[in-house]
Amino acid sequence: MNTPQHYDLLIHGGTVIDGTRAPRFAADVGIRDGRIAAIGDLRGHSATERIDASGRIVAPGFIDSHTHDDQAVLSQSDMRFKISQGVTTVIAGNCGISVAPLRPDTPLPMPLGLLVSATDPRFGTFADYLSALRQSPSSVNVAAMVGHSTLRAVTMKELDRAATPDEIAAMQELVEEAMQAGAIGLSTGTFYPPAVKASTEEIIAVGRPLAAHQGLYATHMRDEAAHVMESLEETFQIGREIGVAVVVSHHKVQNRANFGRSRETLPFIGEAMQHQRVALDCYPYAAGSTMIRTDRGMLDGRVRITFSTPHPECAGRDLDDIAAEWGVAKDEAARRLQPGGAIYFLMDENDVQRILAFDETMIGSDGIPTGESPHPRLWGTFPRVLGHYSRDIGLFSLETAVWKMTGLTARNYGLQGRSTLKVGHHADVVVFDAATIRDTATYETPIQAAAGIDAVIVNGAVTWRNGAHSGAHKGQVITRTPSAAKEAT
Ligand code: ZN
Ligand code: CU
Repeated sequence: MNTPQHYDLLIHGGTVIDGTRAPRFAADVGIRDGRIAAIGDLRGHSATERIDASGRIVAPGFIDSHTHDDQAVLSQSDMRFKISQGVTTVIAGNCGISVAPLRPDTPLPMPLGLLVSATDPRFGTFADYLSALRQSPSSVNVAAMVGHSTLRAVTMKELDRAATPDEIAAMQELVEEAMQAGAIGLSTGTFYPPAVKASTEEIIAVGRPLAAHQGLYATHMRDEAAHVMESLEETFQIGREIGVAVVVSHHKVQNRANFGRSRETLPFIGEAMQHQRVALDCYPYAAGSTMIRTDRGMLDGRVRITFSTPHPECAGRDLDDIAAEWGVAKDEAARRLQPGGAIYFLMDENDVQRILAFDETMIGSDGIPTGESPHPRLWGTFPRVLGHYSRDIGLFSLETAVWKMTGLTARNYGLQGRSTLKVGHHADVVVFDAATIRDTATYETPIQAAAGIDAVIVNGAVTWRNGAHSGAHKGQVITRTPSAAKEAT
């Protein structure tokens, strides 16, 4: 036996799933100074604090590859809805919306209004945002992208048109500033009103500064329904022309007419992966959630209101019932409820399973941390994949499930030094019971911590233990280092 060592924290007796997709193995994990100091048989070693992980899985903390937690990490910094699921890192700034940069007088058109409220502090630069996060850390690590719709709101007077060359130049400067400050990339949401009129050429031009920093391009595509194949082609083209990796956000095929078309999209994505860097994520539910919309396609299925500014009493109710009560058509009821949020039952479960099971698909919640009736994905995504989809349905092994929320995600986003259990890595760790892990959040009762999570450790600090938050706020800002990125190319 090696010389006995002392650790800050010793997780003993557990079974390690290390996040690389390798088969599980029995080992103790020793943590010191926020890092993983040893993995192996650590009997006879001492520790300040111990966690008995007998009969439990010890895995890297999960990375939520798709979040809208930009504001929540400051204003709800305990991040209970994520830490309680085992999430230790969130990727913020998705779907074209980010909280920075914003001027004091920048309007907040939806869906930007989902993220930032009129009373939230404004950050004039991306650097200001990241430094605020460093000054008051949240309970999870954050890597953030800058949003194209935010940039449009900051630089353009009217959003219902293409950007002029001057406006594009102004947006490029803001992308460059964000990348220098430590943003990991740029996201777009051409599905949404503030960016619908942005052309492919505008996005390529605005995204040019990404290349020098090897930032990512992530997108909530223009169309995830009838024109999903054209949207994928546009996404690949943008990635090729800028010369960066692309992330197809929350991949789905929506509306009844398109059910089954993941049989077309997944081989097409797989083919593109042969020639360029492409990643995709997915949430484990057949319903989506976003701002209240009035377009036909979105209102075809069941719609449940999550919040409404003019009609707060309608939160948690079905749009059909509200429309019947008011004696108006569904789209008119939706118009009266704006601005607000809703859940849309628009997908086929078979597509959801096919996309989740696709080898390269990462797990991301797309949770929106607003209101009393959020989509249950906000609290349930990761346990739902581990419990329902991996254990109960057998969609993939537990090792694959963990990899889809750790190692794969870190590879795609270029996050170094965490996400797999390895000596020297930052100690982001989750201890859970593979037999009982389960999402408990439902559409009816969405604010519920998952079952089966014993402990969640962020940078060495026990942050969640036996259903309670410890008060630790040890999350770090994860940035890209331009010099390191340049060296790597
Ligand atoms: Zn989106
Ligand atoms: Cu999103």
